[in-house]
Formats: sequence, structure tokens, C-alpha cells
Amino acid sequence: MTERSVMERRSAPSVQVLASAEEVALAAAEQVQRQLKRRSDSVLALPTGQTPIGLYAELSRRCRDGELSFADVRTFNLDEFVHIPPDSPLSFESYMMQHLFSHIDVDLAKVRLPNGNAPNLDAECRDYEREIAAAGGIDLAIVGIGLNGHLAFNEPGTPFESRTHVVRLSPSSREAFAAEFGGIDRVPELGITMGLGTVGEARRIILLALGQDKAEIVARALEGPVTVDVPASILQQHPNVQVILDRGAAHRLHVMS
Ligand code: PGA
Repeated sequence: MTERSVMERRSAPSVQVLASAEEVALAAAEQVQRQLKRRSDSVLALPTGQTPIGLYAELSRRCRDGELSFADVRTFNLDEFVHIPPDSPLSFESYMMQHLFSHIDVDLAKVRLPNGNAPNLDAECRDYEREIAAAGGIDLAIVGIGLNGHLAFNEPGTPFESRTHVVRLSPSSREAFAAEFGGIDRVPELGITMGLGTVGEARRIILLALGQDKAEIVARALEGPVTVDVPASILQQHPNVQVILDRGAAHRLHVMS
């Protein structure tokens, strides 16, 4: 092992393996609740996708039952499609309204997603970075992982120091949305995403993954070489990462065997 890889291993993420998707949702909600208890005006980075749906349902319940409040929280979503109208049911904005924002007491003026319909997308990327910085940076980023190792919409090959940018989505990423859009040809070709550098500057990161399909990429991201070929492997270099997995997603990890 080189000295560099020893250092990387030393900051290896802590990994929690739970019996079911429901338990993953509860454990992740617990972490969010603790974060909001520490700082009610926390800045959160939020994912979309299948994985966080249970977490969002649990956060919605806790908010409804008065166990936690998002009133002072600011949120920045990880990514969005380019040129999907925001009110389309297929936009990530609609997803967030449907699964979280319409069920919690967040101030919608403090909610931000990248605007994939901005007239000048490069300016939008710069504005997004400026707004995150003006909010004081991200306290807690919750992220998922794509089958190709993407983190947000940062596809394999994206530089680790990248900032918010427009991305050409990989076939693998588009395939994941094919059913929803009624065919891969209808899935947008472009997305807008926080960069790996942007996500990597979050003070704390929680990675969630569910199901056997994710087992191989989770193992490569957490135990393989740190490489731009697997964007989520950047997490090995972060000092404060918690990984919460169900058994299916964990079963290729060496730490499990
Ligand atoms: P998923 O997406 O939660 O729908 O599996 C994760 C991702 O692509 O980051």
C-alpha cells in the first residue's frame, strides 16, 4: 500500500448495514433529526431517486407529528434534468414536492434546485455555487449512488474538483429513467448537477444504497481504488461519511465477510 492509500483508508467511511429498506429510512431520518437538533438552520443537500423515498416519508411523518421542524432549514438539491418543465411530473422539483416539501414545514423560499430551464445554464451553475457559499456551505449532504458509480449526476470521468455544471447523461443513467419517461429516447440527454467538489465540501455526507443491484458498485466505491472512473469513490477521501445500507447493497463488501 502506498502512503497515500493508507491515508485514504484511515478516513474510510463508517458503514451501517441494516436488515431492510425501512430500517435504512429510519436510521437516516434519525441522522437528519440529530443534525437539525444540533443546528435548526442547517443547510442540507438532498437527492432524488428511489432510494430516499422511505427517508422522505419518515421525515414527513416526524414533521407532521411535531418531532422535528424544517422551518429554518435551507435545502439545495443535488441535480435536475435540463429542459424538463419544472411542473412536469418527471422533474426532480415535482419529485421533491411530492415526496417531501409538500409534507413538511420548510419555507419554499429556502428551497433550491438547479434550474434546468434557466436561459443561461452556465450562469445558473455559477449562481448555484454562489448561493451555496452564501448559505455558509452544506452541513449535511445525503447522496445515493448510480449503478455506474455516479454521485448526483457526476458521471464516470468527472474531475473530483468539479463544481456545479451541465452534464451529458450516460446511457446507464438515462436507462435508469427509461420506464418513467416511457423509453430511453425520451429521457433528457442533459442534466445539471452539483460537482464532486461541491458535494465533497459538505461537512458531513450520508450515502444511502438499497438492494442487490447496488452491491457491486457500493463495494467498488467504498473498497476499490479512489478513481474518477467511480465518482462515488471520492467519498473515501472525505473525513465524515456515514454509509447506511440494507443487506442486499452491502453483500459484496469485504468488511461484511
Ligand atoms: P436510485 O438512484 O435511488 O433511484 O437508485 C440513485 C442515483 O442514481 O444516484
